[in-house]
Amino acid sequence: MFLVNFFYGLVTLFVVNYVIKFVQRIRKLPPGPWGLLIVGYLPFLRQNSYDQMTELAAKYGPVFSFKCGQFDVVVINQWKFIKEALANEHLLGRPKGSAIPGVIEHASLIEMSGPRWKEQRRVALTTLRDVGLGKSEMEDSIRDEIKSFTEVIKSFKGKPISVSDKLSLSVSNNISKLVFGHTYAYDDPLSLTMAKILAQSNAMSFFNVVQFMPIIARLIIKLNLFNMGETSSLLKKFESHVIDEVDEHRKKDIDDNVIKDYIDGFLHEMSKRKDEKDSTFNLDTLQRNASLFYGAGSDTIASTFKWMMLYLVKYPEYQNKIRDEIKQTIGLNRQPENVDRKQMPFTMAFIHESLRHSSLVPLNIFRRATEDTKVGDYSIPKDCLVVFNFWAVHRDPNLWDNPEQFKPERFLNEDKSKAIKPPYLVAFSSGKRVCPGESFAYLQLFLYLVSFLQQFEISAEPGKDISLEKLQTFVVRKKEPPNLIFKSVD
Ligand code: HEM
Repeated sequence: MFLVNFFYGLVTLFVVNYVIKFVQRIRKLPPGPWGLLIVGYLPFLRQNSYDQMTELAAKYGPVFSFKCGQFDVVVINQWKFIKEALANEHLLGRPKGSAIPGVIEHASLIEMSGPRWKEQRRVALTTLRDVGLGKSEMEDSIRDEIKSFTEVIKSFKGKPISVSDKLSLSVSNNISKLVFGHTYAYDDPLSLTMAKILAQSNAMSFFNVVQFMPIIARLIIKLNLFNMGETSSLLKKFESHVIDEVDEHRKKDIDDNVIKDYIDGFLHEMSKRKDEKDSTFNLDTLQRNASLFYGAGSDTIASTFKWMMLYLVKYPEYQNKIRDEIKQTIGLNRQPENVDRKQMPFTMAFIHESLRHSSLVPLNIFRRATEDTKVGDYSIPKDCLVVFNFWAVHRDPNLWDNPEQFKPERFLNEDKSKAIKPPYLVAFSSGKRVCPGESFAYLQLFLYLVSFLQQFEISAEPGKDISLEKLQTFVVRKKEPPNLIFKSVD
């Protein structure tokens, strides 16, 4: 009898404690939808959650919250509040713990918070600049890469092709040169595996159960639920390839004069700091940062360029307009250079509009409140995960005239002589954690776009309609990308 009473007592204590904590939590958080016990709102989240977040904001207000598995999530929706949040020092953190427990155990700089993140980011950017990022040799090597790539496209002689894989391989080579110090042949089995791995691992949904229920993550992976077992083993393969790259670099003698790529630079920094206590400059961080830069620098740009090609096919009038601008400025024969951007406002407006309309990273990358803080009058308690709904900003009719419409002209000044990028175009985010690859991405998008339109008229297969239906994974993709025809420009 005593044991039974003791058991009931314990259960009552647990329930009372749970209810008190629950009420305290609810009172501190912005309003939002209810969910189920333990899992919260997680089972109700749809694949295209950017749409759902925007709908929930219409119901609960511009800053709302919900419980998602083991975490409280606050979603910020209007430019006025997002602008304030982007400048808030307490909202610069990332979620604690691993994104995929049991698979990714060490943090790269994208997962770090606080002084460690600051230091890693600062050193990474300096190292990447030292090995070529933003320099003219890098631009030359991108142009060489584009030349090889367009030769491959020409070899199909105008037959309909799926350009996705080939484009990913070409774009990956540009970041590979900076990170690993070399490029890959398009038929190198290793690069094909890497492209497959990146495409599949990016197919994880944004609010994925492994991240939000870390307590059962290992079980989910083991049972291959939600395809997570397969995704995880692909990711492990990718990581092990990067480990091999790091090992190859370690066999060389590094001194100041032979820093050729990011891995060399990091190894050099590591040896300088070998006596530092608790340093994050170790082999685990190196391997994760190298994977991060390769991954972040490949799929994002390739996916954006794929969207750009769809817009060119869907709106051939813009394709002609850009080609006319090319003819009037650099002509069809000289390869484009970054400085040409200034004299090609319509081309730049087209790139800005493609970034706005596709909104590749629609809900940003999760942030975490590192202290109790506020946005407007809304409280955000410490350790809440924070989502910035960039999709809602890019579709806000108060900021953009007829936002659903694809209209590059919206970025041109009155006399159409300049493309103006307003601060609420936040494809790369903004503030201290802004994407460090923004200029590199703009450079590649510009060089690939102009080079392609100098050489090809791009169209869909006859009779095939081009829909712009989206599928949200880590980035927003086209659902079932169509084959395209690349006819040489005479
Ligand atoms: C069209 C291409 C790209 C888009 C749309 C994009 C978008 C983003 C966004 C939205 C973030 C989150 C920033 C935040 O938390 O506020 C981010 C972070 C990041 N991006 Fe990009 N990105 C692109 C290309 C690149 C490239 C080419 C690189 C590599 C050179 C790169 C490396 C990174 C890294 C390392 C971070 C983490 C920064 C940090 O946590 O401090 N990205 N990106």
